[in-house]
Amino acid sequence: MPRLVVISNRVVVPDDTHPAAPGGLAVAVEAAMRQRDGIWFGWSGEKAEEPGPLTIAQRGNLTYILTDLHPQDFDEYYNGFANRVLWPILHYRVDLAEFSEADFDGYRRVNEFFAERLSPLLEPDDVLWVHDYHLIPLALALRARGHANRIGFFLHIPMPPADLLTAMPHHAELIRALTEYNLIGFQTENDASNFSRYLTRVVGAATPDGRRYHLEGQHFRVGVFPVGVDAEGFRQLAERAERSQAAEDLRESLGGRALMVGVDRLDYSKGIVNRLDGYERFLERFPEWHNRVTCLQISPGSRQDIPEYADIEAAVSARVGHINGRFGAVSWVPLRYVGRNHSREDIAMVMRQARIGLVTPLRDGMNLVAKEFVAAQDLDDPGVLILSQFAGAAAELDGALIINPHDRDALASAIDTALRMPLGERKARHRDMFAVLQANDIRFWGPSFIEALTRPGRTLNWLSSHALSH
Ligand code: F6P
Repeated sequence: MPRLVVISNRVVVPDDTHPAAPGGLAVAVEAAMRQRDGIWFGWSGEKAEEPGPLTIAQRGNLTYILTDLHPQDFDEYYNGFANRVLWPILHYRVDLAEFSEADFDGYRRVNEFFAERLSPLLEPDDVLWVHDYHLIPLALALRARGHANRIGFFLHIPMPPADLLTAMPHHAELIRALTEYNLIGFQTENDASNFSRYLTRVVGAATPDGRRYHLEGQHFRVGVFPVGVDAEGFRQLAERAERSQAAEDLRESLGGRALMVGVDRLDYSKGIVNRLDGYERFLERFPEWHNRVTCLQISPGSRQDIPEYADIEAAVSARVGHINGRFGAVSWVPLRYVGRNHSREDIAMVMRQARIGLVTPLRDGMNLVAKEFVAAQDLDDPGVLILSQFAGAAAELDGALIINPHDRDALASAIDTALRMPLGERKARHRDMFAVLQANDIRFWGPSFIEALTRPGRTLNWLSSHALSH
């Protein structure tokens, strides 16, 4: 079996100080790589004036190879083009994009730098899998160094409609760089069809079937590979965690009140402010629930050098103070806000105790929190998932209460509906969703992408072909 080389922007070597891999990408890639020998290459998260030698760490059959980044690269590539242009535009927020040529140069420079460091490590039959928006030009940079390997790309975040994409300076250059990959994977059909419309209408690619494409001498393919979770593993983790001291402490602190929980990186795409506004509307419209519910928002800080992230932090803190000031009582805090990172075990424990999971992003590629919330539930007394129609997960989890996150009245009503939902309906909805999680378990995701990448001719709509065989 050829070696798998995975490349992503950030790589965290698991150890005792990093028990929880941060973010959905890390969890998914780790699960995909656990099954075979391979290399995981990327940024260490550290900055250095001189990049120095690569850091190499072995964990089981997986070799982690990390490089530091120059501070200027960190500013222009990570804080600049990746997170102030690509991130907002791919999340449909053209209004937040802040473009500069210097940042775009930095983005290209870091992709060249990654290729330069990776190139001597590669063998001709390695299969390469590049992850996410930070590394769109990486295949181009590797091809320029003579690597003819099969290279796949997976976009973990949304692909917006062509009209939004064309608002991005250098969009055609970036999309052409994507055509250097043999296979480009998306989370949902909606993302793949947005990309397809861009390819055919903006840059004039030809396609016989919406899966195989031809553009200026390049042949490449597009597929849909929704990221899943380890459904049974996470269920067991939550079941175990329920017996911990932390679980006992949480139960005691709730004093019998129903818990609703949101767990999101502090990011404007997650819709946290809209969610809190919806919760406020709920408290306004349904006073009968006062002192009978507690909302817990867990939001570790993120990308804090970027002004929009500082703004969202201030906006969330202000809403928390406002809601507690307006509705709280000496013996009841309606909204708890926690900014610390938590272990996966603690998150699973909180989810299992919650009557409601609030997953209401304004736009999200998939959102694994939604899937983990379902996986964490007690089959005999499950909680209810309230899910944004704009999360990729909504295409699979129709047992959730699906809402428009911009509509605070809809969220307020959904919270009331969820709190009143009879056990029979909760169980039926949960059963359907858990079956979806099992059918699309994370252990199928990596192999299905790699199989599609390495075996031309196989159907690329893996989800539908896989679902037929279940
Ligand atoms: O899922 C999107 C993503 O940007 C991943 O690529 C990344 O691992 C995660 O969010 C966390 O983001 P960051 O590395 O910027 O903290």
